[in-house]
Amino acid sequence: MTFHTPALMVMAIAMMFTTAAIAQDSGESLLTEITEAWLASRHADRSSEAFTHWNEDGEVPGTCAVCHSSIGLREYLQGPMDTVGMIASPVMLGSVVDCATCHSAAAATLTDVPFPSGVHLTLGPGAAVCSVCHQGRASTQAVDAATGVLALDDVSAELGFVNSHYAVAGATQQGSAAHGGYEYPGNTYAGPFTHVAETTSCISCHSPHSLEVDLNSCTACHSGAASPAAIRTSQVDYDGDGDITEGIADPISSLHAQLGTAIARYASEVAAAPVVYAIGAYPYFFNDTNADGAVSDGEAVFPNRYQSWTPRLLRAAYNYQFVAQDGGAFAHNPHYALQLLYDSLADLGEAVPVDITPLTRP
Ligand code: HEC
Ligand code: HEC
Ligand code: HEC
Ligand code: HEC
Ligand code: HEC
Repeated sequence: MTFHTPALMVMAIAMMFTTAAIAQDSGESLLTEITEAWLASRHADRSSEAFTHWNEDGEVPGTCAVCHSSIGLREYLQGPMDTVGMIASPVMLGSVVDCATCHSAAAATLTDVPFPSGVHLTLGPGAAVCSVCHQGRASTQAVDAATGVLALDDVSAELGFVNSHYAVAGATQQGSAAHGGYEYPGNTYAGPFTHVAETTSCISCHSPHSLEVDLNSCTACHSGAASPAAIRTSQVDYDGDGDITEGIADPISSLHAQLGTAIARYASEVAAAPVVYAIGAYPYFFNDTNADGAVSDGEAVFPNRYQSWTPRLLRAAYNYQFVAQDGGAFAHNPHYALQLLYDSLADLGEAVPVDITPLTRP
């Protein structure tokens, strides 16, 4: 189904809801409201990189189409889903995350969602279809497969950066059930962040159409919170700064920053090649050619991508990116994010001085 105008799309969706108890008049204004909210959301942004990246190729390859095209997602859900996140053939350009993406019969009844680690999880309505696209493209298993039996601190020309991909909320939320982060051998990790029964699905916090999070829906329980990022219930001082009233987002960003520093130190001292991270530039880790610790002109370009990986560095860098690419990690699974960061710091600390004594692992 391709919609050429919002009006046609609304009519088509209205037909899907004929059995719903929506009286015709209020139904029309509800649909207009929903359509306007969707049109203003990133899911409808036809000009975004997420929907235009393949314009020069003329089609979206089957390896990308599942999450970057309504047509691809619908084909995937109708098929056996036996290759995670992929369909066999390319699809045509130009379809976004439209109404039919989430309201097809297959999407509405979806419960079994395969993740990149190979596990299948049973998810409810308002979470299952979201988690098909917001699950990332890698996992603990992908990092282990890349590093194989190489010695932890040996630079290997065979290694390249393993990218979790973007907006990985569904993987973060499932924690150790999905293995979306790099989970160090021998450690245990937080499972799904079920929060409270009222706010377990994606759409209990996000409007499925505007995608926004309404702070008022949080303050019923988290009274007085000035923003979602200011919410805190944990009573442990994970980052050791003496403050357990700051939002749980704060220790996450503090440990994340410390991990960035530790990665840079390890790269210089053990891999003997300084590294910089550039959030907007693929593949994110580049040679710090002038060793100034910052992204200088001309450094964040593909030919200058970092190529002095050791297994230990790759694991830590994977987790650094995984947390960086989920701006809502503090709400999706704060303790899982803190564990990944803490363990990455501790592991780098086996090779270079990293002071984790002020930190507490959740
Ligand atoms: C499992 C789902 C999934 C698959 C498969 C997938 N992507 Fe994505 N990708 C996403 C999501 C979700 C985003 C949106 C991130 C955002 O901008 O919020 C994204 C964003 C992007 C972006 C925009 C990044 C930016 O910084 O704006 C590019 C480029 C991209 N993907 C390329 C690819 C390519 C190339 C493939 C196939 C080789 C691919 N993706 C396969 C889910 C996926
Ligand atoms: C990203 C997924 C997604 C997209 C895109 C999407 N919806 Fe929805 N929509 C949902 C979910 C999830 C629900 C709530 C679950 C349910 O009631 O089935 C919902 C609910 C609805 C409802 C019932 C609302 C109510 O209050 O009873 C209507 C009507 C609707 N959507 C229409 C649309 C239209 C029209 C579009 C396109 C303009 C659209 N949706 C796009 C996921 C989506
Ligand atoms: C077909 C794949 C697909 C499905 C299904 C999907 N999304 Fe997305 N989502 C994307 C892509 C791609 C982007 C990035 C779009 C862009 O960059 O313009 C995105 C962006 C977002 C954003 C970021 C908005 C922002 O302003 O940063 C949120 C939040 C989001 N989706 C939540 C959801 C929720 C909740 C659901 C389920 C109700 C859902 N998504 C279903 C692919 C999907
Ligand atoms: C019905 C009550 C309720 C509502 C509504 C609610 N929460 Fe919570 N929230 C809780 C409880 C209880 C906990 C502690 C759960 C736990 O630790 O497992 C919690 C924990 C959290 C945490 C983790 C804090 C920490 O220090 O570990 C975050 C973040 C959070 N909620 C965000 C939100 C956001 C964002 C919203 C609104 C979209 C929201 N909550 C709505 C009850 C609620
Ligand atoms: C407890 C509430 C809560 C739940 C449940 C939740 N989110 Fe979020 N999400 C947030 C908050 C808070 C943010 C931060 C951005 C904001 O404040 O709008 C966020 C951010 C995001 C972003 C943007 C990330 C970025 O990098 O900017 C995406 C995408 C997203 N969520 C998708 C999902 C999906 C998919 C699910 C279900 C698997 C989900 N969320 C479940 C509260 C929640």
